[in-house]
Amino acid sequence: VEETYIMVKPDGVQRGLVGEIISRFEKKGFKLIGLKLFQCPQDLAEEHYIDLKAKSFYPKLIDYITSGPVVCMAWEGIGVVASARKLIGSTNPLQAEPGTIRGDLAVQTGRNVVHGSDSPENGKREIALWFGEGEICEWTPAQAPWLRE
Ligand code: GTP
Ligand code: MG
Repeated sequence: VEETYIMVKPDGVQRGLVGEIISRFEKKGFKLIGLKLFQCPQDLAEEHYIDLKAKSFYPKLIDYITSGPVVCMAWEGIGVVASARKLIGSTNPLQAEPGTIRGDLAVQTGRNVVHGSDSPENGKREIALWFGEGEICEWTPAQAPWLRE
């Protein structure tokens, strides 16, 4: 089954948006399989954003993501990676559609409140990076037959 790594970034935590953001994925019908509040160490931030290492904004990005606690989440569901990216909206919140998390709750690319994996492969990679063994919970929601035929 497809999995994605979603993270409320430090600005989202500081602004009290954790519940709002979790709620959007819950209401959509995805299954939460991992959740924790976590202060990201420097080396993990660098590993997570390894593909952006050459970008001019990379040092600022590492400072941002390590500036306070984040909320780490793993979500499971059919098509969850692409769907979560749609729920989150464009990287630049000023270009994100109203109704998306960034479109509704943020104004700047460098403070865009939430992260979502960009492929199923990266979903698995990032969940393995941010969660330890025993932190992922497999369970069957009682509502499952009411979500999928
Ligand atoms: P994530 O879900 O966080 O990975 O965002 P994304 O996939 O929409 O964007 P991308 O992976 O290209 O960039 C990762 C993060 O780097 C973005 O979410 C921003 O927080 C930050 N970022 C990207 N581009 C810029 C930029 O031009 N300036 C600044 N300051 N930050 C940027
Ligand atoms: Mg990305």
